[in-house]
Amino acid sequence: MALLEVKDLKVYFPIRGGIMGRIVGHVKAVDGISFSVNEGQTVGLVGESGSGKSTTGKAILGLVPLAGGSIYFNGEDITRYIGKNRSAYRKSVQMIFQDVHSSLNAKKRVLDIIAEPIRNFEKLTKEEERKRVDELLSIVGMSPENALKYPHEFSGGQRQRIGVARAIALKPKLIVADEPVSALDLSIQAQVLNYMKDVQEELGLSYLFISHDLGVVKHMCETLIIMHSSRFVEVGSREDIYQNPCHIYTRRLIASIPSTNPDLKEANEAHRNAINEEYKNQYNKYYAEGGSVYDLRLLNENNNTHFVAMP
Ligand SMILES: Nc1ncnc2c1ncn2[C@@H]1O[C@H](COP(=O)(O)OP(=O)(O)OP(=O)(O)O)[C@@H](O)[C@H]1O
Ligand SMILES: [Mg+2]
Repeated sequence: MALLEVKDLKVYFPIRGGIMGRIVGHVKAVDGISFSVNEGQTVGLVGESGSGKSTTGKAILGLVPLAGGSIYFNGEDITRYIGKNRSAYRKSVQMIFQDVHSSLNAKKRVLDIIAEPIRNFEKLTKEEERKRVDELLSIVGMSPENALKYPHEFSGGQRQRIGVARAIALKPKLIVADEPVSALDLSIQAQVLNYMKDVQEELGLSYLFISHDLGVVKHMCETLIIMHSSRFVEVGSREDIYQNPCHIYTRRLIASIPSTNPDLKEANEAHRNAINEEYKNQYNKYYAEGGSVYDLRLLNENNNTHFVAMP
């Protein structure tokens, strides 16, 4: 049984108009997606800005209302707990938010930021709490004296690590990590990713790892989901996606990963242009009328991991 199972999830945001602020339509931010995450697994959710990645993550945390679908955690339907006491679930699933500048409360000390989830769920003495926070800081490579500082006293990479420490404070089973390293320099990205991997091994965690960059997720994720226009265009193992990308959108994403080899610069540029041409000229082969994304289907019978949204 999968740890997390999402079935036909839909999230629609109302668009209000006129002086009365009546609902005049909906933004279909997520429009019928299904996937699962197994224990200890890292699943990458990749797509361009506005494709619906953060909304998917927030839906799993119960932070946005669902227009349809269901979410199972350890086989239990958690959607019926939304708005009620879901404490066991809220403890097991945590989120690292995309915008680390606003997700860490600037007025609070690191101690209070990291201890907040602990205070909601456990009754610890001041000493016990401080000990836990120090342990959590050390897991993400930070020393105890940082507990008394405020978020503005840290670099982006350090703030991101504080976000990781807070997310793991309750020993969750699943972390939705929304672009956890996108705002960081390349060298620091690797550092934070390594901490995330170490923590994963130590706690047996699963990640839903959200990113707009297929280059970043390559070494983190065994399974990849490519999202476009509120739907999934391709799902597969790391090998399926990087070695045999089939949807034109996936191929565009892969072609846009910068090459580290300067000798290949021209060849890559030509490849990128060819794919962009194909995207323009053969759009109808990959998208249904009105640009909507087809349902996923198994690519071929010899491989039960690779799915693509093509007719
Ligand atoms: N609270 C909201 N109210 C109305 N529309 C929203 C809300 N949150 C998201 N949207 C819309 O839903 C769509 C998907 O947004 P989402 O934040 O999930 O994208 P994303 O894939 O995370 O993008 P990015 O890579 O820029 O973070 C966008 O069109 C966005 O404008
Ligand atoms: Mg986002």
